[in-house]
Amino acid sequence: MTILVTGAAGFIGFHLSMALLEKGFDVVGVDNLNDYYDVKLKNSRLKILKNNEKFHFFNIDISKIDTLQQALSIYSFDYILHLAAQAGVRYSLQNPYAYADSNLTGFVNILEIARAQEELRHFLFASSSSVYGQSSIVPFSENQKLDEPVSLYAATKKSNELLAYSYSHLYGIKTTGLRFFTVYGPWGRPDMAYFSFTDKILNGEKIDIYNNGELKRDFTYIDDVIKAILLLLNLPPNSMNTPFEVLNIGNNKPVKLLAFVETIESLLDRKANKDFLPMQPGDVYETYADITKINKLTGFEPKTSIEQGLTQFIKWYREFYEI
Ligand SMILES: NC(=O)c1ccc[n+]([C@@H]2O[C@H](COP(=O)([O-])OP(=O)(O)OC[C@H]3O[C@@H](n4cnc5c(N)ncnc54)[C@H](O)[C@@H]3O)[C@@H](O)[C@H]2O)c1
Repeated sequence: MTILVTGAAGFIGFHLSMALLEKGFDVVGVDNLNDYYDVKLKNSRLKILKNNEKFHFFNIDISKIDTLQQALSIYSFDYILHLAAQAGVRYSLQNPYAYADSNLTGFVNILEIARAQEELRHFLFASSSSVYGQSSIVPFSENQKLDEPVSLYAATKKSNELLAYSYSHLYGIKTTGLRFFTVYGPWGRPDMAYFSFTDKILNGEKIDIYNNGELKRDFTYIDDVIKAILLLLNLPPNSMNTPFEVLNIGNNKPVKLLAFVETIESLLDRKANKDFLPMQPGDVYETYADITKINKLTGFEPKTSIEQGLTQFIKWYREFYEI
């Protein structure tokens, strides 16, 4: 079985590729190793993946269709897991074209790669909880009608769902959009709060707390996310007309930002120096996943508490950065 994983040097892509290799898949990884965050971290993940001879890597920008098609033409994919994207809500206010290139042009290019496959069983792609915007109907369920994204990042993710729907309808591509809710864990993303808070607390720097800490996030541990994706892999939508689904992958237990900081403080045995700041443009007050749909489909239930997950993250962080 051959699977294309885009964004393979990224946080989720790395963990997913590791899990797929363990299951005996041939994994073709694509990533452009851009410097949105520490490239050394991406290379360290890649080094581990490259230890496995069933992993084949291409350093390619998915917004360049010619290079992409040329490199991938020798493969026939059974599955495609499309994770490469410009992530981050706040950065989308500073560098909109990174989102247009990777998340819109790049996304259409991957759809074209999917369309060209003859044996494709399932196309899965990363959407985001950010598509729920400022919705006050919690928990967020997939039935909600969503057309009010509050950041360009969220708008590109919602667009991805629409673009993928149209390809599924036109070409019968069995497609699942994965709405991830704040994924965290070892080998995580330095631009995310849990990572930068840990970094700053250990280095004695101030941490920024937005909206006086009155924010809630449905933190989902990476191992739970990977388990959900593996369960879904062989359960493609099978509607005759448009075999397309979107699914929340969340923890279903939102945590207050300040409680989350306290957990990090207690695990590090250090107090944070907090800077209380106003709400940031593009940010949302709460994320909270209704996971009934994925539970019914796969039996998926997240298992990791925030204390357990952060313990694993901090253990990894201390080893990796030798601090
Ligand atoms: N981590 C989360 O909490 C979270 C939440 C919601 C959605 N998502 C989505 O899940 C996916 C994976 O997220 P992640 O946390 O692993 O992020 P990540 O930034 O660690 O991984 C994305 C990878 O894609 C690569 N990439 C970006 N643009 C590219 C391009 N044009 N061509 C080739 N490679 C490119 C990056 O170099 C990176 O390694 C993304 O689509 C993200 O938007 C993540």
